[in-house]
Amino acid sequence: MANLPPSSTRIIPDIASVPRHIAVIMDGNGRWAKQRFMPRIAGHQRGVEALREVVIACRDLGVEYLTVFAFSSENWRRPDDEVSFLMSLFLIMLEREAAKLHKNNIRLKIIGDRSRFNDKLRQAMQDAERLTANNTALTLTIAANYGGRWDVMHAVQAMLREYPHLAQTFTEDDLRPYLSMSDAPEPDLFIRTGGEQRISNFMLWQLAYTELYFTDVLWPAFGRKNLDAAIASYQKRERRFGRTSEQLLDKQGKADA
Ligand code: IPE
Ligand code: IPE
Ligand code: MG
Repeated sequence: MANLPPSSTRIIPDIASVPRHIAVIMDGNGRWAKQRFMPRIAGHQRGVEALREVVIACRDLGVEYLTVFAFSSENWRRPDDEVSFLMSLFLIMLEREAAKLHKNNIRLKIIGDRSRFNDKLRQAMQDAERLTANNTALTLTIAANYGGRWDVMHAVQAMLREYPHLAQTFTEDDLRPYLSMSDAPEPDLFIRTGGEQRISNFMLWQLAYTELYFTDVLWPAFGRKNLDAAIASYQKRERRFGRTSEQLLDKQGKADA
């Protein structure tokens, strides 16, 4: 089997003070615009600028993976004109930003079910991924038409297509290679902007032991300072992975000795 990063339910991961992997639900674009008497789409436009700032900040801080939720499998339920605006924004962004990401040594990946996107968008996704495939400073993953339940179902189906005899006996290790993000460590820190305290079908499997951080700041207003505050909060947490505090202190004592 490929050499995958450890699973938090199987092996206790190393904990770096700067999170290796940050996952973000970029929420609040519509409300940001509404507060300014602007159409919701203006909020999405400003949201792209916030993302640009956060990507560069993560790269500068040495974060290795940044995974952002751009469009959920449930967002198709929005009004048609908002959905088509988001699709064209996505296309423009891929076409315009790919070269900039490449220049900054950033690798771009897209996760989610692409079958519902049009050919042009699918092509742009593939081109941007190919262009940046060998970059090493930061992996930016955009979740588009992504749902955590879709991810698990899709992985099970793909695994069983390849190994039908595993149906009764498969383990976490058998399934893991088929999940989105299997090549990345699980997120250390999850950030949701916009005040809502829910996961909204984001990385259900991968967030098992992630530290959760919620802020009222609306996504278009989120920037480097807010990211620093989220990381500072993360650095104060005690990540126990099922163990007791005393066990952690013991381990610390031994490490210091
Ligand atoms: C997040 O902002 C962006 C997407 C879901 C595409 P919203 O559009 O959900 O903004 P609010 O939550 O309505 O303010
Ligand atoms: C979650 O935000 C999805 C994205 C940010 C892409 P939503 O705005 O769609 O989530 P709910 O509907 O408030 O849970
Ligand atoms: Mg929202």
